[in-house]
Amino acid sequence: MAIQAIIFDAYGTLFDVYSISALAERLFPGDGKALAELWRDKQIEYTRLRTLSNTYKPFWEITQDALIFSCRKLGLDLTLDAQSQIMGQYAELKAFPESLATLQTLRGQGKKLAILSNGNPEMLDAVVQAAGMQTLLNAVLSVHAVKKFKTAPEAYELGPDTFGMQAKDMLFVSSNAWDVCGAAWFGYQTFWVNRATAPMEELGVTPSGSGSTLNDLLDFVETGKRQAPTPD
Ligand code: LAC
Repeated sequence: MAIQAIIFDAYGTLFDVYSISALAERLFPGDGKALAELWRDKQIEYTRLRTLSNTYKPFWEITQDALIFSCRKLGLDLTLDAQSQIMGQYAELKAFPESLATLQTLRGQGKKLAILSNGNPEMLDAVVQAAGMQTLLNAVLSVHAVKKFKTAPEAYELGPDTFGMQAKDMLFVSSNAWDVCGAAWFGYQTFWVNRATAPMEELGVTPSGSGSTLNDLLDFVETGKRQAPTPD
């Protein structure tokens, strides 16, 4: 059956987290890249540990905990001012240049659209409003509703529950390979926005489609082409 609803991951997929690394580099010259990478890994690690051990905390707090740990590990002096500047960037993340037009096109084709993110509702509302996406999305789903982070099945279940459809008739779109795997294991069709030209995780999952930006997603939805051609 054709795809009836499309569910998007938020951070790195619709919203560009680059400005966070850029700010980290301004605050900690020479260490910004290392900090941004360690912070992102720790943030995701903490979501998994807390989900496995049933000790949920909102993503905002986890993100802050991961930042504090990462600075300590790298020997960086995180002042309260630097902490609030870096965390503040999360509320001000810009959408990727093609995000809004992609949602508009898909909406014009009659698709149901939603975000399903680890982010807590306040974080998501801030970026969705700032990007002017609120009228294009049928729902903004946060794992906060089930207090378990992706890749817990309860988190992915929010999509089918919201639209009253089966996951196999829905497409889950993420730039995170691990998120694509979680969504595929749950039963969604999947599209991997491989913005970083990364290798696929060795987890036995092949995405239904992939490309380097959301423009390739439009091709996939229209033509069912699995993989966008690599640019010369
Ligand atoms: C999210 C993170 C995983 O939006 O990118 O859920």
